[in-house]
Amino acid sequence: MDLERLALENPLIDGLERLPVRSTVLVIFGAMGDLASRKLLPAIYNLAHEGSLPERIELIGISRGESSDERFRQHMRESVDRFSRRRPNVDVLDGLLENVRYVSGSFDDPDLYSRLREVLEAIDADFGGPVNRVFYLSTAPEFFPVITTALGEAGLNVAEDADVRVVIEKPIGYDLASARIQNEAALRHFDESQIFRIDHYLGKETVQNVMALRFANALFEPFWNRNFVDHVQITAAEDIGVGTRAGYYEGSGALRDLVQNHMLQLLALLTMEPPTAFEANRLRDEKVKVLEAIVPPRLDEVASMAVRAQYAPGVVSGVECAGYLEEPGVAERSRTETYAALKLYVSNWRWAGVPFYLRTGKRLARKLTEIAVTLRPVPHLAFNTTGNSGVQPNQVVLTVQPDEGVSVSLGAKIPGTKMAIRPVNMEFHYGTSFMSESPEAYERLIMDAMRGDATLFTRNDEVEALWAIIDPILAAWRADESSPIPQYAAGSAGPNAADELLDGCAWRRL
Ligand code: BG6
Repeated sequence: MDLERLALENPLIDGLERLPVRSTVLVIFGAMGDLASRKLLPAIYNLAHEGSLPERIELIGISRGESSDERFRQHMRESVDRFSRRRPNVDVLDGLLENVRYVSGSFDDPDLYSRLREVLEAIDADFGGPVNRVFYLSTAPEFFPVITTALGEAGLNVAEDADVRVVIEKPIGYDLASARIQNEAALRHFDESQIFRIDHYLGKETVQNVMALRFANALFEPFWNRNFVDHVQITAAEDIGVGTRAGYYEGSGALRDLVQNHMLQLLALLTMEPPTAFEANRLRDEKVKVLEAIVPPRLDEVASMAVRAQYAPGVVSGVECAGYLEEPGVAERSRTETYAALKLYVSNWRWAGVPFYLRTGKRLARKLTEIAVTLRPVPHLAFNTTGNSGVQPNQVVLTVQPDEGVSVSLGAKIPGTKMAIRPVNMEFHYGTSFMSESPEAYERLIMDAMRGDATLFTRNDEVEALWAIIDPILAAWRADESSPIPQYAAGSAGPNAADELLDGCAWRRL
């Protein structure tokens, strides 16, 4: 019986496809950092909890601070206790921690890599053969080239009879030119097939569901084009502020932080042509094609196609919040945007002329990530006045988070003796349809990196295509050093200026 049939009969069989993952050493650079503590270490625990990890897994944490295996294990235990999506099982956690060790050192110190090599060779010897190696760069971006170069120079970029992979977190560069330099640095020592660039949105179940919805259903394809779609809104609203991340965010801003990667990925998955196979390069070829069809705005178009703003003091969920300029670590006259909205066009046969409106911001009214596809109105309404007045164009809304699901709005007759119509929703909710908790994006992505499946990772040409869209907007904003940055109250739906992008329609309610 083939695996697919088995999986249909027994959902637990899903785990079986993971068995062939070879024994792996996962080396985390920046293992004491925020991302590792909040996301990576808990994700590894959850994979262990589900029995998904390879039979033999070794975890090496690397960071600059002096520490010991024991102290790092304690750190991992605390991270898992605090941030795991499920309460840890003591036996599973203890078992995992037995295979955890710590190596301290400066990322630019060749001695670190000699010591790392000794540890890796000892693991191979103990195992009785070469073990796959995954180097996870959970560090500040300036260390990416430092670490990939040092790994290369130490000969740790390849191993006989084992796979070596490197996982790189975002941001890859801060504009097109620097992204190219970073890609070149990584490619000097690693082959593209060894490099796994993370965009954690691609690991989200609901983002993968955009592809399931489009390519596993005949229903949507006939209207998924310029003949039927009027416009699309993509929202990634957050209620949190910049928190303790001003050091990074001041040099980034909303456009680089969320639009260049997560939001444009959503746009690519929504608009790309169907890949012939759900396989890394076929899928990424399609994404690159559609990203290249997005014409970057000319410098003189930026003002009418992009809006930036900063949050002012306000109230979010009943709590008073400071404005961006009062946040710790933010420059007194910072011009960093905490909100960005764009209008983009995908200039190809399928989408020419359809506006795609994107908006993201911190300290907005609530956390919401969704894609709303609004269809054109029906060509003729034949009902009487009361009937006609409640008719709205159909909308397909894909909610990425929270309340993950899909809803389709339909015009329906209100029960009664009159022909009165109003929109109703046909809904699918993850929670009720599958009755199971989705894994965290990082669980899926760590597993895929260990498996060597790059489908949900960003290829070098894709990263560059993403930056090419954003670059002119960054340049125009950089060049304008004097016009005031619009403000929006924390807890609101964003700046009024963003309404002007919309060609007469309105942003969906947050
Ligand atoms: C990160 C950004 O990539 O994504 C953060 O750097 C942002 O600023 C986060 O808060 C949002 O991710 P999620 O999964 O909470 O939507």
